[in-house]
Amino acid sequence: MATDDSKIGINTRLAHSGNNPRDYFGFVNPPVVHASTVLYPDAAAMASRSQKYTYGTRGTPTMDALTLAVDALEGSAGTIAVPSGLAAVTVPLLTFVSAGDHLLIVDSVYHPTRNFADTMLKRLGVEVEYYDPRIGAGIARLIKPNTTVVFTESPGSNTYEVQDIPAIAKAAHAAGAIVMMDNTWATPLYFKPLDHGVDISIQAATKYPAGHSDVLLGTVSANEACWKKLYEGFCTLGCCSGPDDVYQVLRGLRTMGVRLEHHQKSALDIARWLEEQPGVAEVLHPALPSHPDHTLWKRDFCGSSGVFSIVLNGGGQKQQHAFLDALKIFGLGYSWGGYESLAVPVFLGDRTIAKGSYAGPLIRLQIGLEDVEDLKADIQRGLKAAAEA
Ligand SMILES: Cc1ncc(COP(=O)(O)O)c(C=O)c1O
Repeated sequence: MATDDSKIGINTRLAHSGNNPRDYFGFVNPPVVHASTVLYPDAAAMASRSQKYTYGTRGTPTMDALTLAVDALEGSAGTIAVPSGLAAVTVPLLTFVSAGDHLLIVDSVYHPTRNFADTMLKRLGVEVEYYDPRIGAGIARLIKPNTTVVFTESPGSNTYEVQDIPAIAKAAHAAGAIVMMDNTWATPLYFKPLDHGVDISIQAATKYPAGHSDVLLGTVSANEACWKKLYEGFCTLGCCSGPDDVYQVLRGLRTMGVRLEHHQKSALDIARWLEEQPGVAEVLHPALPSHPDHTLWKRDFCGSSGVFSIVLNGGGQKQQHAFLDALKIFGLGYSWGGYESLAVPVFLGDRTIAKGSYAGPLIRLQIGLEDVEDLKADIQRGLKAAAEA
């Protein structure tokens, strides 16, 4: 079918993008190509590398099936698939920043991104500076002649501040810098970074695209201007992914739209209900009108996913741990985007700007595909335990 038709619905696009079944005897799903070596017909072809596939690290039909499907969602010129969501952050940063460059990173960034910047990038001579997620066009004041990349993540990890991406992109581009965005929370279904001025869109495909907590993968999608350099960086680093993992993510993509709708509905239902519960001071979910960035979220996003945080009404680590230990359905484990609900304690000790002022400890909830009433009963157990601790 014509997957380039911009009018087709998102679930149709998810079901049919990537591979063409006619390319492989009509089988609906593409084959999983396990490959390092690719044979050439003769020495001349070998010398000129004049064939589509040249070596396993540089691309395979399986990788293409996924990356073309992601391009269809992102509207990108090209996509690479790397072994984890964290690699989807580090590979483009390593590709686009050099010694002596100034890199701006949002302060509410996923902690391992900060760790990479503060350790490896600083060691390699990159000047790293964090900015307030609510800075908007004010980012122009922080941009220096050597600023090459502005790294955004919106909503921010754990506290869900929404950034004014178009304003940030405008200021960055005026100064000749490019914009990267970790868009894992919304996926390109609910926010399309490239349509809002972002040059490089990052997804931890481990989360919603894979959807089953059993695969690690990341995708990085670039606009026309950045694609060649991104692909060269990918090949230079040899950071390719295993074909079985790539296949699993393509499989997950087919159902991502319907899964996300369910995550969205359940998470919103639970978030609204939580706002009424004694023991909860605040619910940090940008799709709630009470969220300080709700208007911005409504302007730019067309949906919300299933992970948000709550602030307990007073107390400290004792109450936070009592809440978590009382849960029977929510698992205590990192990551999100899978079919099962998870809860984690939130640590904001690494923040330098977006520290916030919260009435009590924070807990992040990933709302899975279970029945909402069961999840509410589980949360009620947690709130009761926290109140009694
Ligand atoms: C916002 C965000 N980006 C990137 C990642 C990294 O993904 P992965 O676990 O696949 O390395 C995570 C993981 O939790 C995340 O929350």
